[in-house]
Amino acid sequence: MGWLKEMYEDHGFVLSILDLLDIYSKRLNEGKAEPEKLTMILELSHDFTERCHHGKEERALFPILTKRSKQTVDGLLLEHEKGKALIKGISDSGKEKKIRLISEYQALIKAHIEQENLFFKECGRKLDRSEIESIESGFDRINAETLGKAGRKEIAGRISRIKESLK
Ligand SMILES: [Fe+2]
Ligand SMILES: [Fe+2]
Repeated sequence: MGWLKEMYEDHGFVLSILDLLDIYSKRLNEGKAEPEKLTMILELSHDFTERCHHGKEERALFPILTKRSKQTVDGLLLEHEKGKALIKGISDSGKEKKIRLISEYQALIKAHIEQENLFFKECGRKLDRSEIESIESGFDRINAETLGKAGRKEIAGRISRIKESLK
């Protein structure tokens, strides 16, 4: 899969994980605590969004895209940090604050993804062959390191199992 398509596909998974948080948050607001479900969602977010997806962006993609626009990449990195802090807050806080932080996290990551999709597409037109090869071999290496053998299938399976458990 080409790097741009892989980023779009990754963003689809990240948005599905956000949907799980949204469902969890609505249930929490209705009085269902279900801490074990939040743990499963946050573990998935850590494994996929943080380690795999942000890992690929930060270690393989951004070092190349920063040559096109350092300002944009610095802004995106700052948002990754904000997202990480919000996730920590979500797991550490009580009900009302959890609900508020989940909605802040969702807004942050949705806007972040919209911006990245446009920026990546724009950059895609300007990259040369060797830059593309370096990004794609980096992605393969980080996928192998963070997802293991089952890869994206395992992530898709975890998303649907958690979704099922929240019905
Ligand atoms: Fe990102
Ligand atoms: Fe991203």
